[in-house]
Amino acid sequence: MTIQASDPESDIPGKPTSAARITLSHIMTGSDTNLLGTVHGGVIMKLVDDAAGAVAGRHSEGPAVTASMDEMAFLEPVRVGDLVHVKAQVNWTGRSSMEIGVRVMAERWNESTPATQVGSAYLVFAAVDADGKPRLVPPVIPETERDKRRYEEAQIRRTHRLARRRAIKELRAQRAAEGIEDA
Ligand SMILES: CC(C)(COP(=O)(O)OP(=O)(O)OC[C@H]1O[C@@H](n2cnc3c(N)ncnc32)[C@H](O)[C@@H]1OP(=O)(O)O)[C@@H](O)C(=O)NCCC(=O)NCCS
Repeated sequence: MTIQASDPESDIPGKPTSAARITLSHIMTGSDTNLLGTVHGGVIMKLVDDAAGAVAGRHSEGPAVTASMDEMAFLEPVRVGDLVHVKAQVNWTGRSSMEIGVRVMAERWNESTPATQVGSAYLVFAAVDADGKPRLVPPVIPETERDKRRYEEAQIRRTHRLARRRAIKELRAQRAAEGIEDA
């Protein structure tokens, strides 16, 4: 696998994946529940966004905003009294964007049984300057075989995201050109 600076004009040195990897842990309480009594998906999504934002800020050494969140998967319900661990790392970097991979684990707060995976997500963050304009990010340097696999998988997702956006844009332009109104 070849890792290269995503912008040939950029001379920002690369940073290893481990430099920005974090785990955010939180105990779920009664105020986190939905109407079924389990933990609300939005509570988990906020933790995911918080953890990914911290990773993006650390990697890019400055402000970064959420551009998109895809493939948020809820694998198991989370319950009150669960200690939730949100593990996040930079999977891939572009010019100004970063894909952050997040894995959500849960264990009972007062038991020493192993944590199980309850969710996962991929988020794209864009590093921005003081005016909110995209700025260059350091290329991530995957270290382990797992990091390298995640990098390659993130590139596949990136290709699909761009292709999907382009295809939808083209379809809308074509419908507009045909005078179709869907308002
Ligand atoms: C994200 C944002 C900065 C992108 O700005 P923009 O003017 O569209 O800039 P660009 O088109 O150059 O996109 C910048 C990068 O983000 C990526 N990007 C932008 N929108 C994206 C999306 N919806 N999904 C995935 N990637 C996206 C681009 O591919 C580009 O990546 P690259 O530089 O690595 O090639 C801008 O849309 C924004 O500020 N959005 C609001 C963010 C926000 O408020 N988030 C919630 C609170 S943090």
